[in-house]
Amino acid sequence: MKQLYSLSVIGLGKLGLCTAACFASKGFKTIGVDIDIDKITKVNKGISPIDETGLQAMLKRAKKNIMAISDYDFAILNSDITFIVVATPSLADGSFSNDYLEKSLLKIGASLKKKKKYHLVVVTSTVMPQTVETVVKYILENTSGKKCGRDFGVAYNPEFIALGSVLHDFLNPDFILIGEVNKIDGDMLEFLYTKTCENKPRFARMSPLNAEITKISLNCYITTKITFANSISALCEGVKGADASVITQALGLDTRVGSKYIKPGLGYGGPCFPRDNVAFSAFARRLEKKAKLAEMVDEVNKDQVMRVIEKINVLTERLHKPKNKTKICVLGLSYKPNTPIIEDSQAISIVQILVNEGFPVNVYDPQAQQNARGVLGTTVTYFEHIEECLSGINLAVIAVPWIEFKNINFRKLSKKTIFLDCWRILDGVKGINTYHLGVGY
Ligand SMILES: NC(=O)c1ccc[n+]([C@@H]2O[C@H](COP(=O)([O-])OP(=O)(O)OC[C@H]3O[C@@H](n4cnc5c(N)ncnc54)[C@H](O)[C@@H]3O)[C@@H](O)[C@H]2O)c1
Repeated sequence: MKQLYSLSVIGLGKLGLCTAACFASKGFKTIGVDIDIDKITKVNKGISPIDETGLQAMLKRAKKNIMAISDYDFAILNSDITFIVVATPSLADGSFSNDYLEKSLLKIGASLKKKKKYHLVVVTSTVMPQTVETVVKYILENTSGKKCGRDFGVAYNPEFIALGSVLHDFLNPDFILIGEVNKIDGDMLEFLYTKTCENKPRFARMSPLNAEITKISLNCYITTKITFANSISALCEGVKGADASVITQALGLDTRVGSKYIKPGLGYGGPCFPRDNVAFSAFARRLEKKAKLAEMVDEVNKDQVMRVIEKINVLTERLHKPKNKTKICVLGLSYKPNTPIIEDSQAISIVQILVNEGFPVNVYDPQAQQNARGVLGTTVTYFEHIEECLSGINLAVIAVPWIEFKNINFRKLSKKTIFLDCWRILDGVKGINTYHLGVGY
């Protein structure tokens, strides 16, 4: 039986801390490294600095196997494999910045110089294609004075998790993507994931370049699928009797299509899909190639917000009230359920436009309220309880399919309240005045 590796994880953010916690929970000694002292202190006390489903409990369970520090030397010298999970923010041209990555590589390289044993450096952060070859290997070789492939290994191993279900997704992946310079590095990672995953994932092993292109292509494909469903939705709204939900459900039954990510709703948002789609186009431009499909998907996705606003305007015009007397409430502000993250959330864009158009807007979200305050400030009224948020409202927009919206006590509400249920979460609820996206009325 092979010995369990010791691991280090650089960057204890939304993905890095979950990565460290998952490995530690499966018995791997894991050293987390961050520059944020507050995060380090909290992790060492068993307190999660991040709001993610199940993370607090997992950190507690795995406490004996996880420690956090800011000292790179200690982390590299006391581990066999290092995962780099620092942020790679998007630049104006859509590509990803390597600023944080380069800073951490310089430190890892300096630590590698002091290490005698072979060490594997794994990039998990999402990077532009060609980064492993031209940036990662280059910096590590120059700072350590060692040779990649002989003295240390380098691999690209990105994650396909969704916020809100990071732990579950990490432990139950469809497949593990490994871009390896050396077979031995890929073997180490395959062993590690075989010991960590709770399912039996398939492994896609290839060169780092192919893995880098695979990562952005996969998210770009999913954004295309979501947008295709929303295009059907837009079409159906022009034909009385058409229902995009019925149509997309049927499409999903064909195994060539599949039922995931094909339903009418708001456009995609969050910290991954929009930027990976745009990065795909940026990569194509860098190669002087065209990525018309990816560009069009981005454009159609952005149009989705105005489609919802137009729908709201059509519904509220029937009330024959001025906009400043038409009370709207928006339920759900995060970019998806089960997360407080509002980055690129179409729900937030909808609220901002409604406010600009002069509507008084009430908002409620089970987790994202605090983050939303940072963006919406005092332009809206926040509620801690959903029924209070709905009280006296003319039109309620269900912008995020939080499960708890199914349990609204409708008996307390005026029968005249109009619901724009963007995600068909209220299907089956009787006695309410509901409208949907993707339906021709
Ligand atoms: N969050 C997601 O849903 C998700 C999903 C897939 C891929 N990714 C990718 O993972 C990477 C990390 O994303 P995130 O959302 O976890 O970012 P994040 O901003 O939540 O966390 C980054 C962490 O890195 C730390 N850090 C920055 N510079 C450092 C340094 N030099 N040394 C040590 N620590 C440093 C920060 O303090 C922070 O804690 C990105 O490339 C992202 O694209 C994220």
